[in-house]
Order: sequence, then C-alpha cells, then structure tokens
Amino acid sequence: MRILSGVQSSGRLHLGNYYGALRQFVQLQDEGESYYFIANLHALTTVRDPKAALDLTREAAMAYLALGLDPKKAVLFRQSDVREVLELYWILGSVTPHAHLERAHSYKDKVAKGISPDFGLFAYPVLMAADILLYSADFVPVGKDQIQHIEFARDWAVKFNTQYVPGYDPADPEGKERGHSPGILKLPAARIQESTQTVPGVDGQKMSKSYGNTIELFGDEKEIKKRIMSIKTDSTPVDAPKPVPQQPATTPGLVSDAPLYDLLKLMLPESDFAEVDATWRAGGKGYGDYKKKLLEAYHATFGPARQRYAELAADPGEVERILQDGADRARAEASRLMTQVRKAVGIP
Ligand code: ADP
Ligand code: TRP
Repeated sequence: MRILSGVQSSGRLHLGNYYGALRQFVQLQDEGESYYFIANLHALTTVRDPKAALDLTREAAMAYLALGLDPKKAVLFRQSDVREVLELYWILGSVTPHAHLERAHSYKDKVAKGISPDFGLFAYPVLMAADILLYSADFVPVGKDQIQHIEFARDWAVKFNTQYVPGYDPADPEGKERGHSPGILKLPAARIQESTQTVPGVDGQKMSKSYGNTIELFGDEKEIKKRIMSIKTDSTPVDAPKPVPQQPATTPGLVSDAPLYDLLKLMLPESDFAEVDATWRAGGKGYGDYKKKLLEAYHATFGPARQRYAELAADPGEVERILQDGADRARAEASRLMTQVRKAVGIP
C-alpha cells in the first residue's frame, strides 16, 4: 500500500495544519510505504517572493522532520525536485475536461473571494493529479476540502487509461479479467480523517493563515504567548460558570463559540482536560488562568519538536541531504512511470 500526500509551502505552519494534516501523515508512516512532499510548485500560485518561496519550502521540510517524520521510513521530497511531474501535468492536461476545472471548489472559492485567477490557479488540480498519479499512490490522506481534487485525479486517470491503454476496461481498472489490461495510471483513493474537527483560530473562525488568527507551531515564543493571551473570550466574571461551546458553533462564520475551551480540549491530555472542564462549568477560575494552562500545554506538546526544529535550523546541510535523498528515491519511481506514459502517448 502506498500513501502519498503533500503540503503547500505557502505560509508558516500552525496548529490547524498539525491537527488537521501533519499529525496523521506522521502516524501513517508506520502503516505503509509513504511519500510526502512539499508542494512548492503549487505554492507559487500565492507566494511571489523568491526568498520567501525558498525559506518556506525549507521550513516545511524542517517541520515534517521535527514533528517525527522519519526519512528512513518515509520518502520526503520537494515537489520541484522531480521535474517529471511537470511533464505528466501537461500530458494529463490534454485529457482533462475544461468543464471539470471550471467547477473545482478551490478555484470557485478563490474567485468568489475576489482573487483574480491566473492560469496556475485554474490548472492547480491538474498538477495535483500529476503529483498523485506519478507515484502510483493508493491512498491520499487529506482534509475534506481536498476530496474533489482526488476524485478528479481518479477521473482523469480513467480517461488517460481508456484513451491510451489497449484492452483497458474502466470496470476492471486492474485488468484482472482475461483479455483486460491494467491501467498505466493507478486509481487513488482519498483517506479522510473524520475525527479531526476544524481547529478554531484565536478569533473562533477556522484557523487559517489567510485570517491572521493562527497559533504557529514553530513561531517565536513571545509571539505564541501573545497569540494565546489574545484568544477571544466573553465577559463572564471569574466566579461564574463559563459557557461551554455548542457543537456546531451557533455564531455564523465561526467554527467555535469558545475557542479557548476547544483548544484546551485539543491539546490537554484527557485527564487534565476533565479537570479543566469541571472548573469551567463550575466557575471560580478566570479566562487568564485557562490561557496560562493552554500555553503550558502548547509547550508540553510541541516543546520537543520545537527543540528538534531549532537543531535542524542550525544544520541546513542535513536537511538538504535528506531532501536530496528523498528526491532520488521519488525520481526513480517517477521515471519508471514516465517511461510507460511516454510510450503510451507517442513521445520518444
Ligand atoms: P491555511 O488555511 O492556513 O491556508 P492550508 O489550506 O494550507 O492552510 O491547509 C493545509 C492542510 O492543513 C490541509 O490539509 C487542511 O485540511 C489542514 N488545515 C488547515 N487549517 C486547518 C484547521 N483550522 N483545522 C483543521 N485542519 C486544517
Ligand atoms: N492541495 C493540497 C492542499 O492544499 C496540497 C497538495 C498538492 C497535495 N499536491 C498534493 C495533497 C497531492 C495531496 C496529494 O492541502
């Protein structure tokens, strides 16, 4: 079983990225052969500063490693290091219906927000499909927002195989029956982590770099403290019971009516949270006390990873060596597939 996923290096990683994505990636490295990459080509659709593009790519790699990704188990690489992905992207583009791209949520959402779309944004799902199909991935762990992209990858793989593989039958994609041939492009499946709810930011909206409401994983210590202390709370007096958030949140536009409570629930060990929950409902403690508790939990949870991150930051040669090694392993796989793809479409 091959697992593959990527994160865009389009900003500093935050708690939402960890609990929504990276934590699962790290756990999955023990379940199958895993390929993880930093989608720095995709990031070019939003990051226009070359120094930032380089820094964010390296930082994302350090984050993966600091959070426990083991380069001996998983293949960790930069998307741009395997140029074959751009070749497959073009070839896939020639079987991709324009109408699919026009109904892509990611594209429609950005346009609805007033972002003037360029070709890169429009073609984003094609590059993503190439990322997945190039390595013949079986499973792609992603957040719910990415499901449509994986479905596109499946659809286009079927289109490609139907067009170019004699004897391919979409009803028998692995070619198990007599007279059928297996597809060149393997059909991937999304793997959604149902249990992960959306992590709220300090203002109660979804934590997202585009809302400026994040608590970063590897940010400056003082800034983290400031962010945690700025979590939005109501004016319930210290002695009074505090309102427990409703699931789902009742205020439009928010994912949590009480982000402090939800973040404590996410970060504290279960028995510690039970204690917090009891005093929260009974009253007697102020929000300031709970914020201090959250700050402690943050450092208890991420302290060791932050330490490793600092060590990696001091040793850029080591990070580069790991990425080069990952790129070599990924490229070997990519070049095997591209030999078949070129032959199938008629490229010498
Ligand atoms: P951002 O919203 O900060 O731009 P991205 O869209 O780059 O984050 O998300 C990268 C990954 O992190 C995705 O798989 C997404 O599902 C996950 N993720 C981001 N924010 C959250 C959140 N607040 N809660 C849960 N998962 C999140
Ligand atoms: N689009 C994904 C995101 O924003 C990142 C990504 C790019 C990806 N290529 C991928 C994820 C391939 C899984 C597989 O989170």
